[in-house]
Amino acid sequence: MASWQIIVAGVVGVIVVSIVTNVLSQVLFRDPNKPPFVFYWIPWVGSAVSYGMDPYKFFEDNRKKFGDVYTFMLLGRKLTVALGPKGNDFVLNAKLNSVSAEDAYSHLTTPVFGKGVIYDCPNYRLMEQKKFAKGALTVRAFQSYVPLIVEEIRQFWFKSPEFFGGNSDRPSGRTDLSVALPQLTIFTASRTLQGKDIRAKFDESFADLYHDLDRGFTPVHFVFPNIPIPITFKRNAAQKKVSDTYMEVIRERRRTGDLSEFDLINTFMKDAVYKDGVRMSDREIANMQIGILMGGQHTSASTSTWAMLHLGADKEIQNALYEEQVAVCGENLPELTYENLQELPLLNSVIRETLRMHPPLHSLMRKIRSDIAIDGTRYVLPKGEYVLAAPGVPMIDPQYFKDPLTFRPRRWEETRNIINLNDSSEAAVISKGAKSPYLPFGAGRHRCIGEQFAYVQIGTILSNFVREFTWTLPPGSSVPTPDYSSMVTLPNKPCAIVWTRRRISEKK
Ligand code: HEM
Repeated sequence: MASWQIIVAGVVGVIVVSIVTNVLSQVLFRDPNKPPFVFYWIPWVGSAVSYGMDPYKFFEDNRKKFGDVYTFMLLGRKLTVALGPKGNDFVLNAKLNSVSAEDAYSHLTTPVFGKGVIYDCPNYRLMEQKKFAKGALTVRAFQSYVPLIVEEIRQFWFKSPEFFGGNSDRPSGRTDLSVALPQLTIFTASRTLQGKDIRAKFDESFADLYHDLDRGFTPVHFVFPNIPIPITFKRNAAQKKVSDTYMEVIRERRRTGDLSEFDLINTFMKDAVYKDGVRMSDREIANMQIGILMGGQHTSASTSTWAMLHLGADKEIQNALYEEQVAVCGENLPELTYENLQELPLLNSVIRETLRMHPPLHSLMRKIRSDIAIDGTRYVLPKGEYVLAAPGVPMIDPQYFKDPLTFRPRRWEETRNIINLNDSSEAAVISKGAKSPYLPFGAGRHRCIGEQFAYVQIGTILSNFVREFTWTLPPGSSVPTPDYSSMVTLPNKPCAIVWTRRRISEKK
């Protein structure tokens, strides 16, 4: 036998032995104090393919076999899924000394956001950072943001030849929302949350740098955060350049002394002093801007894209949104305000229903820091493994939402359709407690701080779109299926709509 044949035979032998050992250990040894384990053939890889292709199918298929709690292997990690409202509560409200989000996410997020913030610091620091950020997420701030968002939509989006404009006002056309909405989302978020100076940089190279950061935020990097491939090097270079740019802006604002506008940079510059007297450094404030902008970017862009696709397939709701605005804002539809947004229940139901069917994050993970027992079972999960909540599962469970796979925003006006809850009032269904079946923004100490901002941003985009256009999906197409290949659940491309500009007379 030639030496290469010996090597090949050796490698094949090792693979076969490890597969056989793995299968036997699963079949022969079952620890009664551990949850049932999802069977897998290939060591280390485990259930990565079935989970990665369609996590909801994976959760449901295994729930049928094992119930709400089971463990699976994902690329060398053992994850215990805890489904349903009780599972959400178990994972999202677990004690700080039992589980940790930073241990689960930091290797992925720190190279992108930078040092000292979000998951690259102790949890008590993150809690304070979130509190500082809330200074730019108040009602007064939102009142100032709505006109800025409207201006962006009108100035840059409706007029852009790439999307909805062209020679003066193009009367009709076809647009790919998967390109248009991410761009509008980053323009409006940077304009409002970070100021005019930062927004201006998105017309230059900043957008490309953010794109490089984004591409360093993949499932591959989840497993190999520093894999030496070009996108990793680009990610690292972009992180430094973007962070340096924010630092220059911070220094410039400090030099001029003008911190009058509501935005996150000013808020952090003024208020970011921790309880123990330590002030956040400029570098940390800069890195925080990346973390927050990226936290809201794909989540909000995906939600507005799904919402517009569903509305394209549902003329009745689309028209009703227009009529709702006419009734609330008046015949001539003057510029939308933050107060108007609070008075548009159907608009808010559309966003809520979109998030019910398409929560952007399908899996929320924590790493176990000390052994934890699961209440009501004999299971104990050991330190070093992971727990996973999937808030999207109860949101499409017929036990809680009648006809759950149908987009029906009006269900939120008739909460009797949301069944089998101890308290079926709307307040209970959308409550912030972890036991609610409706948790698109998570719960507990890591709950999202961007919910109200997201409603303001998405609500302003949708309502301005409804004022300006009517639209449908291209003939013969339907709302796309979900694409789970990135960290956020997006609609499969193309996400095209066919639109017609409303005639002035129609705009009343
Ligand atoms: C539709 C839009 C959004 C959705 C559905 C969403 C969803 C979520 C979820 C599920 C979590 C919890 C993560 C976990 O427990 O592991 C979260 C956390 C967070 N989100 Fe959002 N988000 C959205 C928009 C935003 C926006 C606009 C911002 C910023 C303005 C933002 C900033 C954050 C931050 C800072 C956290 C906290 C992370 C932590 O404490 O660990 N999000 N979001």
